[in-house]
Amino acid sequence: MGTISVNIDVGKGYEVFIGRGILSCCGQLIAESVSPCRAAIITDSNVGKLYLETVTRSLVRAGFKPCAYTFEAGEASKNMETLSDALEFLADSGITRSDLVVALGGGVTGDMAGFASGVYLRGIKLVQIPTTLLSMVDSSVGGKTAVNLSAGKNLAGIFKQPEMVVCDTDCLHTLPEQTFADGAAEAIKYGVLTDRALFDGFEGGVDRGDLPRIIARCVEIKGKIAAADEFDVGQRRLLNLGHTIGHAVEKCSNFEIPHGHAVAAGMVMIARAGENLGYTQKGVAEAIAGVLRANGLPVSAPYGADELCKAAMSDKKRCGGSISLVFPEYIGSCRVVDRPVSELRDIIELGVGNQ
Ligand SMILES: NC(=O)c1ccc[n+]([C@@H]2O[C@H](COP(=O)([O-])OP(=O)(O)OC[C@H]3O[C@@H](n4cnc5c(N)ncnc54)[C@H](O)[C@@H]3O)[C@@H](O)[C@H]2O)c1
Ligand SMILES: [Zn+2]
Repeated sequence: MGTISVNIDVGKGYEVFIGRGILSCCGQLIAESVSPCRAAIITDSNVGKLYLETVTRSLVRAGFKPCAYTFEAGEASKNMETLSDALEFLADSGITRSDLVVALGGGVTGDMAGFASGVYLRGIKLVQIPTTLLSMVDSSVGGKTAVNLSAGKNLAGIFKQPEMVVCDTDCLHTLPEQTFADGAAEAIKYGVLTDRALFDGFEGGVDRGDLPRIIARCVEIKGKIAAADEFDVGQRRLLNLGHTIGHAVEKCSNFEIPHGHAVAAGMVMIARAGENLGYTQKGVAEAIAGVLRANGLPVSAPYGADELCKAAMSDKKRCGGSISLVFPEYIGSCRVVDRPVSELRDIIELGVGNQ
């Protein structure tokens, strides 16, 4: 089986277990740090069908008493209504302060269940079992949770660190190609941020046999960056590489272009803008584009600078009259630069270029 464990030093610190087939012994892993109790599994309709039984069985074997709340799969469910429903479920099931919430699913489930566990009875224990590549390398680590409001994505949320994270890479076999590619975009982002060797490893597409090691490295990088800045006021902004323009692309497409795909295009555009502004070494944008293409990801988006700028203006990363942008310097190093909001349109224009 082979489990890699990464110790994340965010909040009180916790382990991320990564391995093939470890879902069937998740109960045992959880029992190492949480004594047997009621375990409320929160999952979505797709993941529930595939993995709820395995997780339930393993929890029972380890002495836990599981119950399950399943919501309709998809981003549209990540709202206050589902959150409220999940909280009512926890109350109806008699979950107490000494019990546990288990988030079983992708980033939507992790965000929903994380939020619910953080506010139910003012906070009970949480274990994350991510089942998408994106949630393994990104959303299950770092402690951010959120739901969407009518006014925008992720506008209501809390910080909630889990007791542990269990990543079974075998779950990724059932993932649709496009959803897998979304996660690959975030993994490539970590390479651009701090690790040239990780980045180079994606040149021929993701080596699926090497996924436990790749995920461990991404988790390590995210953990280091998040630990230095648990509440997202400084260096954690580096994790937004490609995201300011990426979010704008998502918005312009009315969320038809998925997050990772939009971030991929956003990374190329900000690198190209950086080359023009002198923050980024020449050739970096093309190097990023090459690796993204090899992973079935887009390197541009069909929107002009005006449209993208308008969409980007509502980004949370805006602060007063300036906006924080992350520019690659070279592959393996990036920096956060604050620029006046009034320059954003022109910066985006440099990024859009004449693709
Ligand atoms: N909290 C954070 O730090 C953070 C970071 C990044 C993204 N996010 C959030 O994560 C969400 C995106 O995450 P996501 O892409 O995992 O979305 P998701 O949870 O909706 O999963 C994508 C789709 O794959 C299905 N699925 C999940 N695991 C599967 C499996 N093993 N086999 C087959 N199908 C499976 C799901 O049912 C869903 O239909 C967004 O809401 C985003 O805002 C949060
Ligand atoms: Zn992202």
